[in-house]
Amino acid sequence: MKIAMIGTGYVGLVTGTCFSELGNDVICVDNDIEKIKKLNKEIIPIYEPGLEEMVKKNRNEKRLSFTSEIEDAVKESEIIFIAVGTPPKENGEADLSSVEKVSAVVADVMTDYKLVVGKSTVPVNTGKWIKKTINIRNARGIDFDVASNPEFLREGSAINDFLFPDRIVIGVESERAKNILCELYKPVDAPILVTDIESAEIIKHASNSFLATKISFINAISIICERAGADVEMVAKGMGLDKRIGKDFLKAGAGFGGFCFPKDLSAFIRIAENLGYDFRLLKEVERINDEQKKLIVKKIKENLWNLNGKSVGILGLSFKPDTDDIRYAPSIDIIGELLQEGVKIKAYDPKAMERMKVIIPGITYCKDPYEVCEDSDALVVLTEWDEFKNLKVKKIKKLLRTPILIDGRNIFDPKSIEDEGFIYSGVGRK
Ligand code: UDX
Repeated sequence: MKIAMIGTGYVGLVTGTCFSELGNDVICVDNDIEKIKKLNKEIIPIYEPGLEEMVKKNRNEKRLSFTSEIEDAVKESEIIFIAVGTPPKENGEADLSSVEKVSAVVADVMTDYKLVVGKSTVPVNTGKWIKKTINIRNARGIDFDVASNPEFLREGSAINDFLFPDRIVIGVESERAKNILCELYKPVDAPILVTDIESAEIIKHASNSFLATKISFINAISIICERAGADVEMVAKGMGLDKRIGKDFLKAGAGFGGFCFPKDLSAFIRIAENLGYDFRLLKEVERINDEQKKLIVKKIKENLWNLNGKSVGILGLSFKPDTDDIRYAPSIDIIGELLQEGVKIKAYDPKAMERMKVIIPGITYCKDPYEVCEDSDALVVLTEWDEFKNLKVKKIKKLLRTPILIDGRNIFDPKSIEDEGFIYSGVGRK
């Protein structure tokens, strides 16, 4: 099938590449000319395991190409995926101007049937707006369909999530659109749920909000655990064994970040508001998440007393492991607060330091975790990279000025780390 993927951000690039891997001809489009130049030299703008190899392979086999010429890509393709950015406006609502622009271009250049599929995370009823935008300009009455096909990719495991998803959601309003999308996803072994467009759009926001709720729930439980002398890891295990609850997304820690959960949560709150519903539950999910980051700073204070002039080592900057993405990463807020208190920061992350240097230039970036520990008054773990789980704790203890370890992701076993002589503080643990 011939596909145009409009928007070569995270979602567009991964999805477009994976569609080409399935044997389709995919043209990925972006108005960022520099990005397209780089992609044509096979320089991948993001770190995602397996992506670079897959891009190279499919470019070699001539199934995948990159361009900034949206008109040509639309003309040549039957399926047009809209995967452009929908960044949050100041009030939390998604900015849909790029979606509108793409819809207008499609209407202006199409000469034969097009299936226009919303892939970006958008508020419910965006499909209706796309259809309206195309219809207004479609004086020649060319046949087209609009559909919604939300993505559920996680950074760091996006390719696997695409090829082996739990489900594929397709929101359509015609048999033709349904058949095309079912055919497109035929090689993927997963249940396909076919719905109306509005339900598909809501499934995306409702799923992300629910997952964020699970995280904030366990983070709230972690506070109760600390106060009551229980261990949140055990509590989460005990809860998760109940199949109705499930073990995933019950990991207490320094809070959720990334470009999806925080953004989608506030967008969904606004969507609900516009529909006349005050989604207080989700407002509380947001509040708990903000508190969770403050809690890490509080733990540092409780251990170091006066912060001014002290040195704190940070392990992990990305919003989660296996990505260089720092968007809405808890580390940004936590480091920001520490800097305000006059703390000197040394930091290390396996992938995210270059990005962090751009937004927080005034701290010391180290070549490895041990350099972070040298002469630091405390060590704080903010991302659970595998590399940190196997550190030589004896060496760390020697390097630190005081053996204080704040484990914001509960990667260490409290008992064995205390036996090594550390003063340990995890999240929701005794
Ligand atoms: C998320 C959704 O999982 C995905 O389906 C959607 O398409 C995009 O948004 P992503 O943002 O890549 O994916 O990361 P995810 O693995 O979901 O983690 C999000 C945040 O929650 C991270 O900061 C992570 O550290 C945190 N988290 C996750 C927890 O704190 N505890 C958990 O149990 C799980």
